[in-house]
Amino acid sequence: MLPADWQKRFNGRWERGFALAPLTTWRIGGPAELYIEPATVESLAWTLDALRRIGMPYRILGGGSNLLVGDGGVKGAVVALSRLRSIERAGVGLVVEAGARLSAVVRAAGAWGLSGAEPLAGIPGRVGGAICGNAGGRHGDIGSLVRSLDLLEPGGAVRHVEPDSAFFGYRSSQVGDGIVLGATLGLKPSDPHVVRSGALGIIRERRGTQPGWVGNAGCVFKNPAGESAGRLIDSADCNTMREGAAHVSRIHANCIENDGGARAEDVLRLTDRVRGRVRRVFGVDLEWEVRRWL
Ligand code: EPU
Repeated sequence: MLPADWQKRFNGRWERGFALAPLTTWRIGGPAELYIEPATVESLAWTLDALRRIGMPYRILGGGSNLLVGDGGVKGAVVALSRLRSIERAGVGLVVEAGARLSAVVRAAGAWGLSGAEPLAGIPGRVGGAICGNAGGRHGDIGSLVRSLDLLEPGGAVRHVEPDSAFFGYRSSQVGDGIVLGATLGLKPSDPHVVRSGALGIIRERRGTQPGWVGNAGCVFKNPAGESAGRLIDSADCNTMREGAAHVSRIHANCIENDGGARAEDVLRLTDRVRGRVRRVFGVDLEWEVRRWL
């Protein structure tokens, strides 16, 4: 149990046996033994320190949009960053906290007439997770906007990083075991109407080529170099594959849709079959993009 001094100083919400499925876009997975939502960065740092002191393992939850939680749930604590979500204008850029939704960042940039964040339009999730996995699409990724970021190191120190060109790669970053607290995004001045219509165009494009957010976790596998995992899965005729309430999406074959009631087990059986067939047909080993808490 967490020490009494933590409970006294803690600012936020915490609960035992908390259902995680509603916090993931896949809507899959069991409960967290302990769920904690700090309301301030100080409370977050204090909580992680308390968890370390009692030896309770913890995981950090961002937007839950690129995450598969196992059916048995999570032993230990899940610490959600959803309350740390401020977005402020700083000259020709934004200072954003890790828990800010990408949709809110895109909206704020538009309202302030700042261009550059439009490629993030229509991507679910929050800033912290997006930075860890360098989220993006064909129009660009978040890494190219990040001018600086603050990482909470495992020892509790905050490290300020100004990323060089090697810091972000395709769906990857060098965040490592630090926790993204927030970042400064560099944008360009523009007309709010132009920014908004650019963002809307990208959302429309995404809607036509991918299933909606609910019951979906976006692309399950990373693209192999120079290829689209979706095209490979589609060409290997995996489109009709189903396990329980989980099936390969007819809209984009690199997505798996939950019809309602799918279990992590269904998804894992299905992804094993998809990977197996793509390996047999194309000799390619697909690598997971979605994070797994199993
Ligand atoms: N394709 C198929 N069948 C499919 C899916 C795609 O034949 O079922 C073909 C398309 O027709 C197109 C090509 O494959 O010719 C590429 O498809 P798409 O433009 O959808 O791009 P992608 O490489 O499959 C990537 C990202 C998406 C991002 C889109 C659009 C990855 C793993 N995927 O998909 O990101 O939205 O580009 O920018 O990098 C995500 O990472 O979660 C994600 C959804």
